[in-house]
Amino acid sequence: MNESIIDELSARIKDLSAKTEQEIEDIRVKLLGKKGEITALFDEFRTVPADQKRLFGQRLNILKNEAQQRINELRETLASCDSAASGEDLTMPGDVMQLGARHPISITREEILSIYKKFGYSVAEGPEVEDDWHVFGALNFPPEHPARDMQDTFFINNQTDNNILLRTHTSSIQVRTMEKGQLPIRVVCPGRVFRNEAISARAHCIFHQVEGLYIDKNVSFADLKQAVLLFAQEMFGADTKIRLRPSYFPFTEPSAEVDVSCNICKGKGCNICKGTGWLEIMGCGMVDPNVLKANGIDPSEYSGFAFGMGVERIAMLKWQVKDLRNYFENDVRFLREFSTVI
Ligand code: PHE
Repeated sequence: MNESIIDELSARIKDLSAKTEQEIEDIRVKLLGKKGEITALFDEFRTVPADQKRLFGQRLNILKNEAQQRINELRETLASCDSAASGEDLTMPGDVMQLGARHPISITREEILSIYKKFGYSVAEGPEVEDDWHVFGALNFPPEHPARDMQDTFFINNQTDNNILLRTHTSSIQVRTMEKGQLPIRVVCPGRVFRNEAISARAHCIFHQVEGLYIDKNVSFADLKQAVLLFAQEMFGADTKIRLRPSYFPFTEPSAEVDVSCNICKGKGCNICKGTGWLEIMGCGMVDPNVLKANGIDPSEYSGFAFGMGVERIAMLKWQVKDLRNYFENDVRFLREFSTVI
């Protein structure tokens, strides 16, 4: 007996292949059967000199195991091919369960609301189909104000009828809250709003807002500024700065637009903030005394502030989404990017 026979047989065993049960059985008989090659080597073992018995004994046992293992492998491969033919592939990985994710607009709306809830605000909602009074009239919009124009507002019926329309902002919920006559008021009003605008990367005819209203005795502009600053720091990070720019809304006086320091470039100037270092996040102001009066609140006793922001805009700034249309197209490749945001 010499080692090269064992080596050669071992190499052949590794290369064995078979397509049927019969071929595997033939291989087994040829190697391990009564007259098989390995069996023959075991017979020959008797003649091996005593000093080599240990070496050859070990080698032969290993060879026999290799043969048996290879035969088992061939059987397994054949069995899985058979089950593939019957429609099952037992070697296939299992189906991965796809987990759903919350929509980025829902995530952002909840985050905005939870910040204001921490500040002691409650949440109020209202109808999407509204009347002229709740969207414009009670908010000091003069009759000829362009926001009432057909360009901006989707009217449900003829404007000369009773002026039913889709709300253009959630300030209508603030009117409904004031109507209830319970003071003081601290509410945030989330909801979908509608404006007759051409759809583009930066504008959509449907979007979401969160607006807020705070009415009490002795509420000042300093309170508004503090509320806006705390919100900005909760939303965009503790080192966020704010800037108020004078603005105009019919329902607030004075009014301001709020900018936050760009959280991407930290104020240095980048393409998100268009080199200015500032990003506009909301409108705000002190509630106009005419609005208080129109809603049965005495402006000599009470004052308040209001603010309103677009949820899409906040989400865009938080995640640097460049095209607003992504939010509405339900492309799972976009939505999946938010699956890890809780
Ligand atoms: N209602 C305003 C809008 O839709 C936002 C706003 C709310 C501004 C409250 C000032 C105060 O654009």
